[in-house]
Amino acid sequence: RTVYVNGAFVPETEAKVSVFDRGFLFADAVYEVTCILDGKLVDFEGHMARLRRSLDELKMASPATDEELLAAHRKLAQVNNVKEGLIYLQVSRGEADRDFLFPPEGTAPTLVMFTQEKSLLAGPSVDKGLKVMTADDIRWRRCDIKTVQLLYASLLKNEAKANGVDDVWMVLDGMVTEGSSNNAYIVTQEGNIVTRPISNDILAGITRASLMRCAEEHQIKIEERSFTVEEAKAAKEAFTTSATGMVVPVVEIDGVALGDGKPGQVAKRLREIFIQFSR
Ligand code: PDD
Repeated sequence: RTVYVNGAFVPETEAKVSVFDRGFLFADAVYEVTCILDGKLVDFEGHMARLRRSLDELKMASPATDEELLAAHRKLAQVNNVKEGLIYLQVSRGEADRDFLFPPEGTAPTLVMFTQEKSLLAGPSVDKGLKVMTADDIRWRRCDIKTVQLLYASLLKNEAKANGVDDVWMVLDGMVTEGSSNNAYIVTQEGNIVTRPISNDILAGITRASLMRCAEEHQIKIEERSFTVEEAKAAKEAFTTSATGMVVPVVEIDGVALGDGKPGQVAKRLREIFIQFSR
């Protein structure tokens, strides 16, 4: 694979980042994952807008313009011949002697990008739906910033696997926040979609924003409000959204099957609408 490091396209075996990089030492870095479908980037502008916001919130310097980032994304997808998969982008505050205080202004940020080929349109999780378990949301309260501080999400995914389920929905003060790497939704008996409003408690998913537009266009009502685990277990259906998962049905929460335990109609329909809209 060819990867991108600070303006250069290099073979992955030759790519280098410093031991003193603040991303490595302090998780002082932000990231984006953009989906590639049919060789084309999905929602690129949305991902770059959120990247800008993450950088601003952390007072981190921008490594490149949106035009430069778009050109680099396109080139990387092309040289690695990725038709379906993703591009991962990470910006850290750069290399500096280890110190909790930020390095002097003018320290160059580190920008890396790589591709991952992945089958996104077809897969067992889509056909069978996900089984999820719940866990306390003990993350720091700035989940709106897309930082690489992903240890808790990683621990939860491993816990899910050990428990024979696919993913985890996190719960704060009795209310579901989001999935370990996706936004969470339930569908009411009337067929409305319910999802938590945007705040510092969740990541404002780019897929979430697109999904809301798709739902509105197709006269599917959205209730932006928090919901409890009990309400989720009693829901007609549930699903998650993320850049690479797009829309994935959820069929079980903490061992309780939703409806008939099969992927729901609303989730399946929204997935189709979303894919059509993204291609
Ligand atoms: N995860 N919530 C969390 C905690 C996430 O990590 C993600 C994305 C989302 C969905 O955001 P979007 O629709 O913009 O992908 C919500 C990415 C895909 C990841 O970490 O791989």
